[in-house]
Amino acid sequence: MTERLEDIATAMVAPGKGILAADESTGTIKKRFDSIGLESTENARRDYREMLFRTEEAMRNYISGVILFDETLRQKAADGTPLAELIRSSGAIPGIKVDKGAKPLALSPGEQITEGLDGLRERLAEYYDLGARFAKWRAVITIGDGLPTWNCENANAHALARYAALCQEAKIVPIVEPEVLMDGPGATHDIDRCYDVTHKVLRIVFRELHAANVNLEGIVLKPNMVIAGQKCSKQASPNEVAEKTVKCLKATVPSAVPGIAFLSGGQSGEEATRHLSLMNEIGNLPWALTFSYGRALQAAALQAWGGKSENVAAGQRAFAHRAKMNSLAALGKWQDKLEEAA
Ligand code: 13P
Repeated sequence: MTERLEDIATAMVAPGKGILAADESTGTIKKRFDSIGLESTENARRDYREMLFRTEEAMRNYISGVILFDETLRQKAADGTPLAELIRSSGAIPGIKVDKGAKPLALSPGEQITEGLDGLRERLAEYYDLGARFAKWRAVITIGDGLPTWNCENANAHALARYAALCQEAKIVPIVEPEVLMDGPGATHDIDRCYDVTHKVLRIVFRELHAANVNLEGIVLKPNMVIAGQKCSKQASPNEVAEKTVKCLKATVPSAVPGIAFLSGGQSGEEATRHLSLMNEIGNLPWALTFSYGRALQAAALQAWGGKSENVAAGQRAFAHRAKMNSLAALGKWQDKLEEAA
């Protein structure tokens, strides 16, 4: 029996649950492993991810789905169980990153376009057979002097819409991720500039989704929060981030979308949790607001593990803690003092 797209999307943003983004490409996971002095071998990547997916408390209670990289969807745990099966048996849904990365946008210096549409229909059919029920495509928008350009916004939104339509044709829920970057060498912009760019990008994205006949009830949006660039001298308060993000999303995201799952984008684990909780405290929202964090869910676990088998339990404790904190944040019930209890 094929599940309905709407039901999968709703399950991905179920109350108190969110998504673990563990889809780092081979290049990105190498950078993460470099930070703990670990060589990035196929087995090391498997061991690390197996540690996360075997964190029963987190996976069963707080995680609705896991975004995987191609290699991981095909990998088996040390005992021979496919990693996708581990995820499914914990009650979470396996998902797959299907974009082929952001490449320089021709004739648009400093900007990027995400590739991966060629052959995507065939790849989606295979991913479905391997157990994936949702997918992810990340578009990258850089703020800078005269950036983003009309060309970059429109090219990326168009690609996102073509990807989303192909996913739905394949009975796979598309996570639509237009990321306005908060980090990078030129990220000196303030929160209001982030608001304006995010607002414009989201309007264009929904225009393109509409033009491509995408069913909004069968997608999950994965946006950035509205936040100052990391190099901006004037950082906004957590309340301002929460208020401006909710205002921006209300102005641009149709209520037919079942849920919005934020990326963390360079925020620390605790910051990303605090912002999400404050937004849910505002309440009266037409969609679920939850997390689809990569770094903000994994950084503490990666450090605690350090690539050593004797630290697996410590890594799992760190992951379970962050997952629980974010689950509370998705309900608007996180509090500072709960962090100390860790
Ligand atoms: P971060 O939460 O680390 O930004 O990663 C989420 C993600 O999936 C980016 O594509």
